Amino acid sequence: MHREDMDEFVEQVTAQSDLLQTVQSYVPLKRKGNRYWGCCPFHGEKTPSFSVVPDKGFFYCFGCHAGGNVFKFLSLIENITYFEAIKLQAEKLGIPMPQRQKTPQEIARDKEIADLRKVNEMARDFYHNCLTLTRLGEPGKAYFTSRAISAETIAEFKLGFAPHAWDKLSTAFLKRGVKQELLLSDGLAAERQNGGGIYDRFRNRIIIPIADERGRVVGFGGRVLDDSTPKYLNTPETVLFNKRRILFGLDRANRAIKQAGYAIVVEGYMDAISVFSAGVKNVVASLGTAFTAEHCKLLLRYAPAIYFCYDSDDAGQKATIRALSIVQGTGATVRVIVVPDGKDPDEYIRKHGAEAFQQLVKKALPLVEYRLQYVLKNFDHDSLEGKVKALHAMLPVLTGIREPAVLGEYIKRLSQALLLDEGIVRDEFRRFGHQPLPEDSGAVQREPIRQAVRRTDTALQRAGRIVIRLAFQDAGILAHFATMVPLNDVSDEPQREILLALQELAAQGKNSNDTEMANKLSETAMAELSRAMVEDLGVLSETEAYSNAVRVLRKAYLNMRYVEHSQRAAELARQGDTAYVAELNQAQKIKSEMEELQFE
Ligand code: UTP
Ligand code: MN
Repeated sequence: MHREDMDEFVEQVTAQSDLLQTVQSYVPLKRKGNRYWGCCPFHGEKTPSFSVVPDKGFFYCFGCHAGGNVFKFLSLIENITYFEAIKLQAEKLGIPMPQRQKTPQEIARDKEIADLRKVNEMARDFYHNCLTLTRLGEPGKAYFTSRAISAETIAEFKLGFAPHAWDKLSTAFLKRGVKQELLLSDGLAAERQNGGGIYDRFRNRIIIPIADERGRVVGFGGRVLDDSTPKYLNTPETVLFNKRRILFGLDRANRAIKQAGYAIVVEGYMDAISVFSAGVKNVVASLGTAFTAEHCKLLLRYAPAIYFCYDSDDAGQKATIRALSIVQGTGATVRVIVVPDGKDPDEYIRKHGAEAFQQLVKKALPLVEYRLQYVLKNFDHDSLEGKVKALHAMLPVLTGIREPAVLGEYIKRLSQALLLDEGIVRDEFRRFGHQPLPEDSGAVQREPIRQAVRRTDTALQRAGRIVIRLAFQDAGILAHFATMVPLNDVSDEPQREILLALQELAAQGKNSNDTEMANKLSETAMAELSRAMVEDLGVLSETEAYSNAVRVLRKAYLNMRYVEHSQRAAELARQGDTAYVAELNQAQKIKSEMEELQFE
């Protein structure tokens, strides 16, 4: 697409976006004058320091200094990039993205992807019909019955059966005009070793279609009916099928995940199907591969918490610990659902029923608790060496605890369990690099993704923000301010960055707008700009506030120059250079202007 089309698109989305409405769909707000206040969704707090000024189009949190426009808000709360936020908003508003002219290769690739999707859909229906409508499907039916999988579940997941034959699907599809290469690149068929032709990949297996989060079939898992191996055969990596990014069931679970506020992650297809059928619909499976950072990101779009419910065997516990370490540090809340009896959730549900499983979900252990139990069980903590190892295995999760009382409790329990002096545990913990947090954050809906920070705030910085606020709205003001204080000499770094960016826009003849600024500015500078826009000026009018602010900043600037010239004069005088007189005169002149300013 052309650059101008893109600009126009962004402008259109911006113009139709309503910051207040958007924020309110995530955070309850209360109105006070022309601003709205609420508890910040980005860091834990009980008293509102999160503020939105709809007129200006900015939000700002005085606690954690998150700030920006509507897209910045969406990108923070949905955990997506700034540009993804624009696209998301455009989708919500029904504004189409401008299309770039595609290269022939891109057009060909798009067509291939569309064809692959089409063939996958056909294959899903083929296997499903084979299971439900034909005699060839009978072994599959018997298998599902033996696992107590109902007709409704089969219909819901469009489960299927690949008949016990070499080329039923291939032949049928070739006849219907599907190209051989497509069957190969889609992983539905493979080439015969000797002699031409192809044969079906999936044979005599029950078939589980795998979809992406939008419900488009991307691949299949096929399970044997007996104990032969491999137990599961999956679609190989194709253009569409990337195990690291696909979570089985997400297309059905996403709404339930949003509603519940957490996703349950299980290891196997059958587990996901069982759990879902047991009425717990916020469940996905990670396809037996390790849980990846990409999986994590995908889930965090829907909810801030993830509950792992892996197999209860050794491998499952190890996989849980690995998954936990992936999720730690993303800001997600993590819990572990422990299955006390049976190998996996599916077996547990078959043995004890849906309700019993729902109880397990309710009793999900917090990350630290699970880790503590795991460490105590798996480290031989009789020897001193073992104790140290166990302690060190706990330190990374302990540092994630924000409430001092809870932390104290765990340190106590850990030292008791390891028979170590509590002081030693505390020392190790401190050595590990824990910094006490300035604020005790209580129960929050969302695990804080930012922390409250105290920032210095001088009269100079306040004055700078007033100038920024007016300069943002009026390039004339910026020009005036630049004659009073050269922008490069503005001492506060983020503020200097903002003013220079505004100047650059003005030089290009562009109006300042938040999207342009968001592209140019660093995170800190963007937050400072937001703060400038939402800050209360007290009783002063904007023009009064501006002239006061300019006086403060000009004085600071003159003072800096005065010091410079005086020091230079002193230096020259020491060297016996008579040029010091000129420097002194300069300094004197500056001083008198400073004094005049005093009385203005
Ligand atoms: P499990 O062996 O735990 O599967 O492997 P399961 O779901 O409990 O299988 P059932 O209950 O015996 O039918 C977990 C996941 O690992 C992948 C599959 O995605 C499976 O669901 N896996 C397992 C394979 O891809 N290939 C295999 O041979 C085995
Ligand atoms: Mn199983």
